[in-house]
Amino acid sequence: MGTELNNNTITTAYAHWAPIYDLVFGAVFRHARCAAIAAAERCGGRILEVGVGTGISLPDYARSTRLVGVDLSEPMLRKAHTRVHELDLCSVEGLAVMDAQHMAFPDDSFDVIVAQLVVTTVPNPEATLDEFVRLLKPGGEIVLVTRIGADSGLRRAVEQSLTPITRLLGWRLEFPWARYARWVERQEGVHVIERTAMPPFGHFSLVRFGKFLQTGAVQEDYLEVA
Ligand SMILES: C[S@@+](CC[C@H](N)C(=O)[O-])C[C@H]1O[C@@H](n2cnc3c(N)ncnc32)[C@H](O)[C@@H]1O
Repeated sequence: MGTELNNNTITTAYAHWAPIYDLVFGAVFRHARCAAIAAAERCGGRILEVGVGTGISLPDYARSTRLVGVDLSEPMLRKAHTRVHELDLCSVEGLAVMDAQHMAFPDDSFDVIVAQLVVTTVPNPEATLDEFVRLLKPGGEIVLVTRIGADSGLRRAVEQSLTPITRLLGWRLEFPWARYARWVERQEGVHVIERTAMPPFGHFSLVRFGKFLQTGAVQEDYLEVA
């Protein structure tokens, strides 16, 4: 059995998760989601939430925020539609089924791209991050809540050994920071703003990338909180 995620494994996995997702993954990631929303709203403007899922984070945005949400999974997105309707979330301009790797928006469409627990679930994380950069206006931010796997040692070996199982569940455990670092190094106009460990267990992080207003701008030191 292959260990790579693809869109079929994702849609199958999240069709199973949809009815119970909020119960299992709601409270445990609330702190991290709220930190991401606060960061996104500090940046301000029009926000795209990629992998919005059941819309679990949508009620925590301010009513004045302008939001668009996309997800690959129709069953997850149906839950989000119901939530928007029941809670009358007028901040949500639209929800659509879309693949994060190829989204149907023009370049420079959003001030902030938020993706919570998504980059480690997509088949090609680097291509997905490239797509985020394409959609982001200069001066905008990518705000992630993401699992950061171990770079080496026993924890990395355990994470790698569990890959065949977690793939069926719809995500990767092994995703070292080095992978983000390599991606950002290849980008001309992107820098790391923040990397802050988040519960549970500090195995997840709030990560913010900025898109420079001008190409050729210089990377500043970034905030790192273990
Ligand atoms: C772990 S869930 C996270 C849901 C939500 N963001 C949260 O905070 O709980 C991952 C979500 O990403 C979505 N997803 C996975 N691959 C995707 C892709 N290629 N394009 C769009 N959404 C995708 C899944 O359908 C699922 O809803």
